Amino acid sequence: MGGLWFCWLVFCLVFVSAELERFQHSVKADGSFSFLVIGDWGRKGAYNQSQVALQMGKVGEQLNIDFVVSTGDNFYEKGLASPHDLNFKDSFTNIYTANSLQKQWYSVLGNHDYRGNVQAQLSPILRKIDSRWLCLRSFILNTEIAEFFFIDTTPFVDEYFHNPKHPKFDWRGVIPRKRYLRQVLKNLKSALKESVAKWKIVIGHHPIKNIGHHGETKELIMHLLPILEENNVEMYINGHDHCLQHLSSITSPIQFLTSGGGSKAWKGDVHHIDDGNDEMKFYHDGQGFMSVELTPTDAKIAFYDIFGHVLHTSNLSQQLYSTM
Ligand SMILES: *[C@@H]1O[C@H](CO)[C@@H](O)[C@H](O)[C@H]1NC(C)=O
Ligand SMILES: *[C@@H]1O[C@H](CO)[C@@H](O)[C@H](O)[C@H]1NC(C)=O
Repeated sequence: MGGLWFCWLVFCLVFVSAELERFQHSVKADGSFSFLVIGDWGRKGAYNQSQVALQMGKVGEQLNIDFVVSTGDNFYEKGLASPHDLNFKDSFTNIYTANSLQKQWYSVLGNHDYRGNVQAQLSPILRKIDSRWLCLRSFILNTEIAEFFFIDTTPFVDEYFHNPKHPKFDWRGVIPRKRYLRQVLKNLKSALKESVAKWKIVIGHHPIKNIGHHGETKELIMHLLPILEENNVEMYINGHDHCLQHLSSITSPIQFLTSGGGSKAWKGDVHHIDDGNDEMKFYHDGQGFMSVELTPTDAKIAFYDIFGHVLHTSNLSQQLYSTM
């Protein structure tokens, strides 16, 4: 009897750990909804973070957004020290104060978040301090017409493990690394295969394709991109590079979108695309954010600068892909 119970317990633990946690977000009656995307932001308002926040508030109001997505590097320079770190209020609660931004935020971790106490941002204590906050390593968000797959990309990057000059990371929960990465990819793959959503959107901190400062992330090109291509993902959205960017590729319908302009931005550091398969649609080396409006058949993507000016738009249509 004791043995049986033990087996049941082990089965439950294995079963639970083998699935990505799922959240449901109710949207408008016809399934349509909109959201903003911001990345690389938490600097207590500095480097134009407050200006970006102000414009997000206005655009959020115009679009009547349903939620906000954060692509990571939520708190500089070293994430949070504990769930009671005042940086949480100084860089989040007291910055994104507009009415329209009082919605659920769905966040992933960036490499800077791993340099603090990595568990602090995942702690339910933060949700008690500010109920908008939800950050997990990898998880799924379901709406009627779209499924979002949030992926923890920092542990994929070899350099963070092997370069002795790199600052220390808090790898609790990640080591043994190989097993962790294998599990993330396996979970993503099976969740994508099972998905019947009209739109499949994957979100991570690091870019896959990228002409900005950091260049492309070879580990993600090797391990993540093939899974996205096999499963007809329409958008991959990331931060990490402090810019706004839209790339597309002739080898797949995936749109590569970078929204990492939440605060400090870099200037004049652009790598050229040497791959003839990729097309640069837009690049802005400065602060700003992105919006996405989705209906069952159409997606409208827009990028904004710190004055709220629309810099670039792109419209996608589902029919286009289903006939491809
Ligand atoms: C803030 O934005 C303005 C307008 O784009 C820019 O001129 C200025 O350099 C930015 N400040 C910082 C610290 O990035
Ligand atoms: C996308 O559609 C909107 C109208 O909904 C239009 O204003 C905008 O110019 C379109 N963008 C592109 C790139 O076609």
